[in-house]
Amino acid sequence: MKPIKVGLLGAGTVGAGTFNVLQRNQEEIRRRAGRGIEITMVAARNLDKARAVVGAGVEVVGDPFAVVNNPDIDIVVELIGGYDLPRELVLQAIANGKHVVTANKALLALHGNEIFAAAQEKGVTVAFEAAVAGGVPIIKALREGLTANRIESVAGIINGTTNFILSEMREKGLDFATVLKQAQELGYAEADPTFDIEGVDAAHKLTIMSAIAFGIPVQFDKAYIEGISQLQARDIRYAEQLGYRIKLLGITRRTQTEGKEGGEGIELRVHPTLIPSSRLIANVEGAMNAVLVQADAVGASLYYGKGAGSEPTASAVIADLVDVTRLATVDPYCRVPHLAFQPNQMTDVAIVPMAEITTSYYLRVYVKDQLGVMADLTRILADAGISIDAVLQKEPGDQVNLDIILLTHQTREKNIDAAIEKIEQLPAVISKVTRIRLETLS
Ligand code: NDP
Ligand code: HSE
Repeated sequence: MKPIKVGLLGAGTVGAGTFNVLQRNQEEIRRRAGRGIEITMVAARNLDKARAVVGAGVEVVGDPFAVVNNPDIDIVVELIGGYDLPRELVLQAIANGKHVVTANKALLALHGNEIFAAAQEKGVTVAFEAAVAGGVPIIKALREGLTANRIESVAGIINGTTNFILSEMREKGLDFATVLKQAQELGYAEADPTFDIEGVDAAHKLTIMSAIAFGIPVQFDKAYIEGISQLQARDIRYAEQLGYRIKLLGITRRTQTEGKEGGEGIELRVHPTLIPSSRLIANVEGAMNAVLVQADAVGASLYYGKGAGSEPTASAVIADLVDVTRLATVDPYCRVPHLAFQPNQMTDVAIVPMAEITTSYYLRVYVKDQLGVMADLTRILADAGISIDAVLQKEPGDQVNLDIILLTHQTREKNIDAAIEKIEQLPAVISKVTRIRLETLS
């Protein structure tokens, strides 16, 4: 059988990795796919740089639409990144009857519903394993491996850059800016690294996993997003002294909301989170990713591996290429649905507002060292029906004022919001309360 022909859009970190791994393992990949997979055309802005990656045997062009509109290309691999241009390219490829493989989580989190609908109508596949957790096959696990289960929750470290920053800050005491620069040099960070550090990249990935886990459309606009840029080194230290690690966690889970409007809902949130140090996921360090899934039949399962970088991500891109090559001959209506559930079986269960989520909290209150301040804090929490799990009192170094750290038991976010508002009005409280959510993940 003739090799399937692939057009590559982008020959950067992931594009180069994809080309190199496909070359290196071509024989083994051919035996798995049932036919050869050959990159015959590449689009990039810097043509010389792209030629240095793919060599003389591959056509290199500056216009990505030349690849998408080339009738000889069977599969388009989109590795450019961004929102608008990739959307146009992917929709054009689909309209031309081509299968698409992409690592672009931003694209799918924002335009996934439109893209999957177009692909479904045209009978082509859009594969995106590399878009979530790099080389870790979490999409396949959620969509196929766990298909017998009712999934209850998905919680993960799904941004390598921020996990690398938090690990290096904690272990080596390095400052934020230095570690971010290292992450960029190692090829982990997005073209705009604020996507990483402000939690946007993790929210893109979580949005995709939420859709697959719960059979809902992708709804990035409903995600609560808080990154690590406001996190202070002393909070990392205090958390450690209390037996916790702080990780940027993406959490999506089924929940019940209260009151007249109450009912079933889905939490969708990304924020720094305290996790007991004894949990496996709390010990995931560097650019590694880990996703913990709770499902009714299998129980808890943890997926761990390299979440970013050239060849780990290429591993997922090529897995999709092999899948698409195998599927290319199958009846389109028998294919695995893009978001796990058949398109006419999606539910409209709502993403709940952040005020309705239930979790535990780390609160750091910076106060004047005055009589009665601790009593005031505990009274406000008790009045709000919030019980305290642990208390730590520290001098942050100025010898005059105190940091009081409180760990709470579970409560609704709206209760803690109301308590924080009252705490910040106490005369002894000097600055805004630092609030970090805490998940036991048991
Ligand atoms: P890079 O910036 O390294 O590569 C982007 C490539 O796209 C470059 O070859 C660039 O060409 C090319 N490009 C950009 N704009 C155009 C254009 N208008 N026309 C033609 N080519 C263009 O990005 P990455 O490889 O890191 O990321 C690619 C995608 O993979 C992104 O969506 C990213 O989010 C995702 N991803 C990345 C991971 C990683 O670890 N890096 C992991 C998982 C997903 P030139 O160099 O000539 O400018
Ligand atoms: N910038 C992303 C990260 C790349 O750091 O996780 C992988 O998606």
